[in-house]
Amino acid sequence: MSDRPYTLLSCSVSLDGYLGDRKPRLALSNEADLDRVDDVRASCDAIMVGAATVRTDNPRLLVRSPARRERRRARGLAPSPMKITVTDRADLDARSNFFVAGEAEKLVYTPSSRVADACARLGPVATIVDGGGRVRMRRLSEDLADRGVERLMVEGGGTIHTQFLTAGLADELHLVVAPFFVGDSRAPRFVEDGRFPWNKDRRATLADVERLGDVVLLRYALSDRYED
Ligand SMILES: NC(=O)c1ccc[n+]([C@@H]2O[C@H](COP(=O)([O-])OP(=O)(O)OC[C@H]3O[C@@H](n4cnc5c(N)ncnc54)[C@H](OP(=O)(O)O)[C@@H]3O)[C@@H](O)[C@H]2O)c1
Repeated sequence: MSDRPYTLLSCSVSLDGYLGDRKPRLALSNEADLDRVDDVRASCDAIMVGAATVRTDNPRLLVRSPARRERRRARGLAPSPMKITVTDRADLDARSNFFVAGEAEKLVYTPSSRVADACARLGPVATIVDGGGRVRMRRLSEDLADRGVERLMVEGGGTIHTQFLTAGLADELHLVVAPFFVGDSRAPRFVEDGRFPWNKDRRATLADVERLGDVVLLRYALSDRYED
């Protein structure tokens, strides 16, 4: 088995590169794209989002299509993938959809200093994982591989995408561009500042472009593990 899961980053952005507009769940995607995302989810062992996304968007992170859920069951899998989040403050609501929706295991990575607090709040609804002094995505990825996760879908937000990209842990990026502007520099962006492996001297490989109604999907191959 590999030392880390095959890792696919997925998000939708506005024309000016924002993930949202500072209110919950800005609809950047459309029905055709949501169905595509559902298909990608169904193909993965685990889905990860940051704690701010759990708090702000309250996502369920389930496979929606009954046919896809049934196909997973037939393969001996839970109908939806395992859910992963990471938090420093451990200030998450145990009643949020992340924790209550779906049968699959939920993992919460948090620094050693926050484990007791996280167990008290979330112990009944999730497995709390000690992430060490500071949770680093490489160590988290290796731990996921040890737990049998071979294919990980990272659905944001920006701080999480930034850490996977700057650490060189992303194999594939699905970037959907919606046809409108947010126009608010205080809104969350696809990534924060950082040193990215792809720059003017090392351009990422554009593997595919697909039009889905009024949005466009850009697929980038970010490592030599890229699965066409
Ligand atoms: N358009 C899309 O495709 C899409 C997808 C997802 C989210 N979004 C949007 O993105 C926004 C949220 O993105 P965001 O960048 O602000 O936040 P985020 O990445 O969802 O979550 C950030 C939080 O994750 C925790 N965290 C991140 N790295 C950590 C580490 N190494 N160790 C411990 N904890 C860590 C911290 O949680 P604590 O604060 O709990 O310590 C941090 O505040 C929302 O507006 C949401 O709607 C859009």
